[in-house]
Amino acid sequence: MREVTPKKIREMKGKEKITMVTAYDYPSALLADKAGIDIVFVGDSLGMVVYGDNNTLNVTMEQMVFHTRAVARAVKRALVLADMPFSSYEVSIEEGVKNAVRLIQAGADAVKIEGGADHEKLVRKLVRMGIPVMGHTGLTPQRYLRLGGYRITGETEEEIEEILRDAKALDRAGAFAVVLEFVLADVAKLVTEEVSIPTIGIGAGPYVDGQVLVWHDLLGIYESSPPFAKRYAELGKIIVEALSQYNREVKAGEFPSEEHYWGYQNREEFKKKARRALEKLRNLRS
Ligand code: KIV
Repeated sequence: MREVTPKKIREMKGKEKITMVTAYDYPSALLADKAGIDIVFVGDSLGMVVYGDNNTLNVTMEQMVFHTRAVARAVKRALVLADMPFSSYEVSIEEGVKNAVRLIQAGADAVKIEGGADHEKLVRKLVRMGIPVMGHTGLTPQRYLRLGGYRITGETEEEIEEILRDAKALDRAGAFAVVLEFVLADVAKLVTEEVSIPTIGIGAGPYVDGQVLVWHDLLGIYESSPPFAKRYAELGKIIVEALSQYNREVKAGEFPSEEHYWGYQNREEFKKKARRALEKLRNLRS
């Protein structure tokens, strides 16, 4: 069992801020774990940032299982959380259970579902079975067609009510935390005060119990990122610079240089061996 457990995350509420970052493959998960991040999250955002789609609706269970397995192999300390993709839990509780089990068997310690009140029964069932669940409300990207795009939530009374209803339902059903995405900071604060489980914000301001960011946004892989994401590095630029230098050096005959290859010290010995090898091949052919 990994050091960071859902129980530990729950107990951090009000005591220590929780950190969470997405990771979709072995090397990034290894680095996130090394950095001391609490939750390494295989988000369905991979559909956009890894596969280049413009929404998360086409992500499949197969993709989630595949990426979860790679991440789980790398992480020793952090909690490994896997997202349930669109249509993997909405059709029936049975299907939701079956798909959550697949992610746990791929190495996840917990699963995340979008929504709250609509899935109270499923969350309760999973928790009873021993599968820890994180919920997600506010902007739920899997419902972006209904929401009419990616936009801030919590501006209307109805939205405040819906976000609160979701968070409270998740709390009641035994979820260990809830993500609040792109929610006005005052609403996020209210929810954080109203529920007993930790709230983890993304674009939800500072009055929450933890923060989550997408790997590519945090590290500046692409030229732009959502306005709420702080770019802690400009790795995209660094990677392009390194690749351009490699490209230039190969074309100029500068790479590989002496320290990157090995040849025979004794040229005569090499010539003898090469001559014999060539002769053998010629004899074989004739
Ligand atoms: O898939 C994802 O990356 C997410 C985060 C935005 C929380 O759900």
